[in-house]
Amino acid sequence: MSDPAVNIPKHIAIIMDGNGRWAKQRLQPRFMGHRAGVKAVEGIVKRCAELGVEVLSLFAFSSENWRRPGKEVSLLMELFSHALSNQVKKLHENNIKLQVIGDLERFSDALRQQIEQAQRLTEDNTGLTLNIAANYGGRWDITQSVRQLAQQVAKGELAADAITEQSINEHLTTAAIAEPDLFIRTGGEQRVSNFLLWQMAYTEFYFTDVLWPEFDAKQLDRAIASFSQRERRFGRTSEQLQDKSNA
Ligand code: IPE
Ligand code: IPE
Ligand code: MG
Repeated sequence: MSDPAVNIPKHIAIIMDGNGRWAKQRLQPRFMGHRAGVKAVEGIVKRCAELGVEVLSLFAFSSENWRRPGKEVSLLMELFSHALSNQVKKLHENNIKLQVIGDLERFSDALRQQIEQAQRLTEDNTGLTLNIAANYGGRWDITQSVRQLAQQVAKGELAADAITEQSINEHLTTAAIAEPDLFIRTGGEQRVSNFLLWQMAYTEFYFTDVLWPEFDAKQLDRAIASFSQRERRFGRTSEQLQDKSNA
């Protein structure tokens, strides 16, 4: 990956899928898969920081994951809380800025406090932004943005005609960060599962059968190598892009 021809994405978004199946393969309870998944997160965060990736967005818990058995949901919450207590100091030492996006109202007061503290501690860090999506849904994000704009219209602060793609974008939870360049989903499924719907309009997609607990730096490098070979046209023709790069 020290190859200068490799184009490092500025923002990588990942659906970390396959923890349950990884555990099942080992005849272990699903929770062991989630635990192994946290370890994999550490490795990928480290690699992204090394490579100079600016933002890493990780889908940790979707707005639909509440539909899982209560026991699994509560274990996932505990694991999230543990991971925060164990990792925040290290993230801070490594100049990483932690940000959590999603509808946090459904989380316990204690967990919310922990999240707030972690965000406050790391807010001035200038290295990698680690953006964790927890109780996040792409449709929820668009809805809450549009709701804020509708409230401004109702108060007479904004004309309905003045609503633009940019204003919707500015009220998304990701307003402060650029859109993902590369989206990775591990675990073999090829779907978006309500992740960053608006933000991924022009993101490059990469799917792998590797289960999340086994997704390591080498696997990430492979995804980035694939990304490097893509031509991002954003609606233009290939010839137009060639002309531009020759100019
Ligand atoms: C992803 O792994 C982690 C979360 C959704 C929290 P899964 O738990 O979905 O694993 P599989 O898809 O059942 O293997
Ligand atoms: C998506 O994974 C959400 C996270 C990884 C947090 P799921 O495993 O819940 O997605 P579906 O239900 O298979 O689409
Ligand atoms: Mg899954």
